[in-house]
Amino acid sequence: MHESAKKLDFPKDFLWGVSTSAYQIEGALHDDGRGPSIWDTFCSESGRIADGDTAETACDHYHRYPEDVALMATLGVDAYRFSIAWSRIQPSGRGAANPKGMDFYSRLIDELLAKGISPTPTLFHWDLPQALQGAGGWFNRDTADRFAEFTRIVAERLGDRVSRWITHNETFEHTVLGHAIGTHAPGQQLGLDIFPVVHHLLLSHGKAVQALRATLPAAAQIGIAQSMARARPASGRVKDRLAAHLLEILHLRMHTDPLLFGRYPLELRLLGIDRSALRAGDLATIAQPLDFLGINFYNPQYVRSGPKGGAVPIEAAEPPTHLERTEMGWPVDADGFGELLLYLRKRYRTKLPPIFITENGAAFPDTVDAQGRIDDPRRIAYLQAHLHALRQAMEAGVDVRGYFVWSLLDNFEWAEGYRPRFGLVHVDYSTQQRTPKASFDWYRHVIAANR
Ligand code: FCB
Repeated sequence: MHESAKKLDFPKDFLWGVSTSAYQIEGALHDDGRGPSIWDTFCSESGRIADGDTAETACDHYHRYPEDVALMATLGVDAYRFSIAWSRIQPSGRGAANPKGMDFYSRLIDELLAKGISPTPTLFHWDLPQALQGAGGWFNRDTADRFAEFTRIVAERLGDRVSRWITHNETFEHTVLGHAIGTHAPGQQLGLDIFPVVHHLLLSHGKAVQALRATLPAAAQIGIAQSMARARPASGRVKDRLAAHLLEILHLRMHTDPLLFGRYPLELRLLGIDRSALRAGDLATIAQPLDFLGINFYNPQYVRSGPKGGAVPIEAAEPPTHLERTEMGWPVDADGFGELLLYLRKRYRTKLPPIFITENGAAFPDTVDAQGRIDDPRRIAYLQAHLHALRQAMEAGVDVRGYFVWSLLDNFEWAEGYRPRFGLVHVDYSTQQRTPKASFDWYRHVIAANR
């Protein structure tokens, strides 16, 4: 196993990391003046979250962060990607900073720096302050200005110690799951009528980049983390191939072309999508130069054409039966990862900034043995295969600078609750005991062998 870690042969300055997000690990939802977010509301509605789970305590990271940072130090990571909960900083989404909320992230950052780990915050990982949702949420253009204001406040306080910043996490998932089909907060079901949400998220990204550049030292690195995958048709039928093409337009291209090309795909017009939220000058604001593009990759998407009269003409399809599936039901297909990276280079060419893989990982039904150990060979195999595919893509010329495993800890997996476990570290939710899994040791060796 450790031999295989050595063979990966990554460049010495490659950045190794782990990733989490605030709502999924922090708990302490009522501590130190935090305001409610859309996820608090969503979790309080019956039937929204599997088993009625809530993030009330989650991994209690808010109180146990020193222990979690010590785990990262043992792992040997260079960087930690976490997110800053907007409603801890601005409990109602606007106005002056809540000092206690800010202090939490300041303490976390100091703890990381003391261990030589570079803090990599994400400014929006889906937990919009509820008060802003009350004012229309991402349908309201003003939310983009509120996000820029929040960003400036955070950068003014933490910018002296943080050199790598991520504006948004996965604008596609937040749009589609939260606003088109409603399986995530805020639970809206608007089908294809979601252009204003996409546009205001991307606009807020551009405005946040401007706020960061105006506040931070020139050396600061700024990017965004987008989910990406090629879409694969369930069959060779024209209808299914069209559905895959359509998904690629609505996912990859709609959420990344504006960032890198400064334009939306032309096909949106053919689809009759109402783009009236777009105003003169917006695309220039969105297409701010980026220092890196963050990519979250889990699996290629299999799709078929949707039912007649449905809100969206695309439907998820079963992946081929020969592919292994994770606990989420997602197919394991590392070739799809390499294929995606090569596709991005071909599509965006000189416009493609250096890449960080900001999320990659898998949930499997882990079991704790009589000695308290968690042997998770399937997670190790998943990570190994994806690192191998990544290394090959780099050999083929794709400029990738670092890799973050999702996730450090088992955590609150949104609508799926606590059942899927993505962590390198097992969390016993009744005692909050952390136990590194075999994959933790494996990753520790990968990092050490590739320095
Ligand atoms: C991504 C999310 C992250 C986590 C993983 C499994 O889409 O960004 O919060 O839920 O999936």
